[in-house]
Amino acid sequence: MIIGILNQKGGVGKTTLSINLAAAFAIAGQRVLVVDADPQGSSLTWSSARAAETAPLFPVIGMAKPTLHRDLPEIAKDYDITIIDGAPRVSELGRAAILASDLILIPVQPSPFDVWATEDIVGLIKEARQFKEGLKAVFAVNRKIVNTAIGRDVLDAFTDESFPVLKSQVCQRVVYAESAAQGLTVIEVAPAGEAAREVKALAKELLRYDNQERKAA
Ligand SMILES: Nc1ncnc2c1ncn2[C@@H]1O[C@H](COP(=O)(O)OP(=O)(O)O)[C@@H](O)[C@H]1O
Ligand SMILES: [Mg+2]
Repeated sequence: MIIGILNQKGGVGKTTLSINLAAAFAIAGQRVLVVDADPQGSSLTWSSARAAETAPLFPVIGMAKPTLHRDLPEIAKDYDITIIDGAPRVSELGRAAILASDLILIPVQPSPFDVWATEDIVGLIKEARQFKEGLKAVFAVNRKIVNTAIGRDVLDAFTDESFPVLKSQVCQRVVYAESAAQGLTVIEVAPAGEAAREVKALAKELLRYDNQERKAA
């Protein structure tokens, strides 16, 4: 399965969620590949920051090219789960990443501005659904501020049932940046922490959603 973590807005957590979800899947025993489709190469930089003596959890390859949808399936077939860390901006690269994905996760911060800004990616996915019937897409809230009420509800009014909002929310926590700086993930740095718990819950819900949709199809 190919999961695209996509949103043309920068700074919403595409790279953070790509790496941490990949770790959750890998630790659960899946063969995982991360494809960095952002010319900025943040996932690649993350993996090069990882100390040589730290056991690798998953490989990261760079593939920021508009032929991604054509080239990736051949590589992805050797893995259970391939995660595409998407590029910012609406571009050919963005479209290729949408077409390459079976399931798209759109990270969004719980603020009206960020929710409104998802209009572009939603439009592109709807367009892609004309060629790729059954292309699934879900929203996930990232950077929710702990102990505040604003979260999923800001998205609910905006979305339709073909873009459900996952129940699992990822909060704003320093451990996401701290772990990334060392080429690590929150599950490795603090396996019993809140961040690890929320990433694992998101990973689980994502797979459950995919399963349920496959059965319904
Ligand atoms: N849940 C979070 N808690 C704290 N910091 C976060 C969280 N998600 C992302 N960040 C930080 O926000 C910045 C942008 O995240 P990033 O994953 O690089 O976004 P994108 O790939 O969409 O541009 C980074 O500095 C990252 O460490
Ligand atoms: Mg990024």
